[in-house]
Amino acid sequence: MKIVVAISGASGALYAKTLLETLKATDHKISLIATENALKIAREEIDLDYRELGFPSYDLKDFKAPWASGSNPCDQMVIIPCSMGTLGRIAHGTSDNLILRTADVCLKEHKKLILVPRETPLSLIHIENMRLLTLSGAVILPAVPSFYSRPTTIQDLVNTVVARVLDHMGIENRLSPRYKE
Ligand SMILES: Cc1cc2nc3c(=O)[nH]c(=O)nc-3n(C[C@H](O)[C@H](O)[C@H](O)COP(=O)(O)O)c2cc1C
Repeated sequence: MKIVVAISGASGALYAKTLLETLKATDHKISLIATENALKIAREEIDLDYRELGFPSYDLKDFKAPWASGSNPCDQMVIIPCSMGTLGRIAHGTSDNLILRTADVCLKEHKKLILVPRETPLSLIHIENMRLLTLSGAVILPAVPSFYSRPTTIQDLVNTVVARVLDHMGIENRLSPRYKE
């Protein structure tokens, strides 16, 4: 599959790093787009420059990326973590950077779009935007870890979220124990 992983300026760079490292072990064709705030937050939270992970990475203003056109869409897009700013802009179709345009193409071409927002508490604006996106076919998969597998490290907790993302992408994984497994 052609998969676009986008990272926007919400807290939780470790979610993106974990997903990307897991995808690296697959045969899927992964492309990366990150916002300026996403790059800053990754440096602040985990001293990471995503470009070090070795995926082809696209500039936010590079509308020449193939999947910016509905005639050549990607198969799936995941935005992890997804800021409420990016989520709101997608919900209202602004399409004025490559992340927003790619998401817009995914929705109009009925390709899988998974958004992993991280914000708390939620305002009615956030909730309404998530409602609109759900009605438009996106999967809203909030970065809400689970505890039934008794995670003992931050990485374990992060894995509980990334495992659900991979499940929704249809990518087999053993990242986190399943309930009652
Ligand atoms: C350190 C830091 C942490 C942030 N965490 C969040 C967050 O968890 N969720 C969120 O929706 N926005 C968060 N923001 C705000 C967004 O980065 C901001 O709204 C930005 O405009 C989003 O733009 P982008 O989606 O283009 O990256 C954070 C900002 C900073 C500087």
